[in-house]
Amino acid sequence: MSKQTNDTSVQSACMTRRAFLFGGSAAVAGTVLLPGLPGLESKALAAEVARYPRKRIGSLKALQLNQPVKFNYPDEAQNSNSLLFRLGAVAGGGIGPDQNVVAFNALCTHMGGLLDGAGSFSAADQALGPCLLHQTSFDLTRHGMVIGGHATESLPQVLLELEGDDIYAVGMLGLIYGRYDNLNTG
Ligand code: FES
Repeated sequence: MSKQTNDTSVQSACMTRRAFLFGGSAAVAGTVLLPGLPGLESKALAAEVARYPRKRIGSLKALQLNQPVKFNYPDEAQNSNSLLFRLGAVAGGGIGPDQNVVAFNALCTHMGGLLDGAGSFSAADQALGPCLLHQTSFDLTRHGMVIGGHATESLPQVLLELEGDDIYAVGMLGLIYGRYDNLNTG
């Protein structure tokens, strides 16, 4: 199945941290609308992203189509469970030549159901879920937007950068379930 999107919010989230910080995108001068951060000014977003660690999480060559890879971000604490995907379609915030490499925190935004188990990812729908607790599914091609179920918030998306063949996590959009600040586990 192949899905294409030209949603302007998708284009906004394709900016890398470098673009945010160093003015590499025309959108830096304007207002960036992103899921979970509605209306946040670009400068504020740059400041937010700059707080995060830069962590190598994989290799583009090694990443298989529709085979999620587990990693932890932004730390190793409980609920930092995350998944890296090479999707079969262009995705919002996607990196790589096909703009299909994306990553998300794997805790359902409703009540924290874990979505990184076998069978949680649907390659047919390019979605994570349905969550075993209350059946929420999230569209991975559209910034983790809720497709259906009890959750109302999109899945937190991990911002990615590609450097050569190396994939780096550089920030997050959206709040990890159970935290009041993504960078504070206390
Ligand atoms: S915890 Fe996932 S839908 Fe309720």
